[in-house]
Amino acid sequence: MIYDIDAPVLLRDTLADGLIRLVLRAPEIARAAKPGQFVHMLVPDSGHVLRRPISLMAMDAQAGTLTLAIQPKGPGTQKICALAPGAAVKCLGPLGTGFDGGDAQTVYFVGGGVGVAPVCAAMDAFATPTSHAFFGFRTKLHAYGMTQAPCAVTAVSDDGSIGQQAPVTAPLLAAIGVKRPDLIMACGPLPMLRAVQHIAREAGIPCQLSLEERMGCGIGACLGCSVRIADGHGGWHYRRVCKDGPVFDGMEVIFDG
Ligand SMILES: Cc1cc2nc3c(=O)[nH]c(=O)nc-3n(C[C@H](O)[C@H](O)[C@H](O)COP(=O)(O)OP(=O)(O)OC[C@H]3O[C@@H](n4cnc5c(N)ncnc54)[C@H](O)[C@@H]3O)c2cc1C
Ligand code: FES
Repeated sequence: MIYDIDAPVLLRDTLADGLIRLVLRAPEIARAAKPGQFVHMLVPDSGHVLRRPISLMAMDAQAGTLTLAIQPKGPGTQKICALAPGAAVKCLGPLGTGFDGGDAQTVYFVGGGVGVAPVCAAMDAFATPTSHAFFGFRTKLHAYGMTQAPCAVTAVSDDGSIGQQAPVTAPLLAAIGVKRPDLIMACGPLPMLRAVQHIAREAGIPCQLSLEERMGCGIGACLGCSVRIADGHGGWHYRRVCKDGPVFDGMEVIFDG
């Protein structure tokens, strides 16, 4: 079931440098949502036209709340980030597919930048005592999502101000050398996802990648968010990130360029 509701903003604060946290009251969506899904948020003052996709960082079915981490990148996200507590924002969701932990005993989670947000939701649902998360940030000031994590977290950064100065795939590779996980779940910038896919392929570890694409309708109607996915017979077909994704079998994603 997909809902289109007016969600009051309960809390707005700064989660990290250039990252705003919004907590919304959206009981229907919070109850129905799975980790990896997103909401399509109406941009305030856009004449009920423009929406922007934002992942769920956490959902609390009991409290009826959604937590979002939003980078004010362009006009749409800037307006959404400026919403003050008490204001309401129209949210369509939950949308898309989610991560699926299946019967994996050990999951390695990989997040980069704003992609850490949906990985936090996946950790809440699928982390086990042997699971481990690997987060990559630009600097220590951009780091978030590590307090109250349900499993061990290793953070790295571009400048070495938190953890190693290394790509997030460095500690991931080292950890795979010590203990092979049953599954990898990842969300982050394209080069990171491409590298995670390569590592998972080489090691023969199943992986799930959450992709980002510019979106129009958000519900599978406009085909504006199509990506190439292998069809299992040596060819490929287009799949919609908003409806068939954003989480795809990492072995099947075809990265262009
Ligand atoms: C499934 C999904 C989940 C997302 N979750 C989050 C989230 O949790 N937090 C968050 O801050 N952002 C998230 N995004 C990205 C966010 O939707 C875009 O940053 C936003 O739509 C940009 O809109 P704008 O009007 O602010 O900027 P625009 O002016 O539209 O764009 C600003 C810049 O961002 C680029 N851009 C626009 N859309 C995207 C996109 N989808 N992916 C990558 N670059 C883009 C543009 O090319 C441009 O360079 C998600 C995107 C998708 C598809
Ligand atoms: S955004 Fe319209 S089909 Fe995905």
